Amino acid sequence: MIELKNISKIYRSKKGEVRALDNVSLNIKEGEFLVVRGASGSGKTTLLLTLGAMLKPDKGTLIIDGEVINGMTESERNHFRASKVGFVFQMFHLLPYLNVIENVKIASLKKDADAEAEKLLTEFGLGDRLTHKPYALSAGEKQRTAVARALINNPKLLLADEPTGNLDPDNAQEIMKSFSAFHKKGGTVVVVTHGTEADKFSDRIIHLKDGKIVDA
Ligand SMILES: Nc1ncnc2c1ncn2[C@@H]1O[C@H](COP(=O)(O)OP(=O)(O)OP(=O)(O)O)[C@@H](O)[C@H]1O
Ligand SMILES: [Mg+2]
Repeated sequence: MIELKNISKIYRSKKGEVRALDNVSLNIKEGEFLVVRGASGSGKTTLLLTLGAMLKPDKGTLIIDGEVINGMTESERNHFRASKVGFVFQMFHLLPYLNVIENVKIASLKKDADAEAEKLLTEFGLGDRLTHKPYALSAGEKQRTAVARALINNPKLLLADEPTGNLDPDNAQEIMKSFSAFHKKGGTVVVVTHGTEADKFSDRIIHLKDGKIVDA
């Protein structure tokens, strides 16, 4: 489903260059649950942003679902991302002035997503929190809202960047169970995590070091 061929990403700044991804090749099968590990700065977020077509690599080819992503225009990439990819950010990234159901609906491609958003949030145990603003939610509830938002368009691919980093073990387990449920329905999951909660659900664990995939 996903094919990365010789992908390199170099961040350039006044202080010099950082080779965040160094000639990375990786195939991810449709329906695979992949865990990505690596030290801080090893390129995990860069890899995830690349997979989500949010970051253009400097070199190499990215093919998702038969489409060559780095050959697309920006608007083609935006459409691709919105229709096929769900992204869960490390720090939730909920909009503070919108309540729970609004935070989910805003990501929807449909005009009227009320019923769908409510159904999804109820599945995530947030049926009685729909009109809470993020400040009035626990960390676990915020993250469940963020996961519901990532799933509102029925993506084929769910990307998550340390989704359990701010959660206690119980909440972390709940998030991973929701990923596993998505996976069991045929979804493809790539999750960056330091924790071990995802291990039992995963098909494969890869390790990054200095922008390269290495053996553990
Ligand atoms: N916008 C940027 N400009 C310059 N350098 C960057 C930028 N974003 C990331 N980097 C550098 O690229 C390297 C890889 O960053 P990345 O965020 O992918 O690491 P990571 O593995 O996700 O780390 P962490 O576990 O701390 O989140 C790091 O050395 C980082 O400092
Ligand atoms: Mg990161």
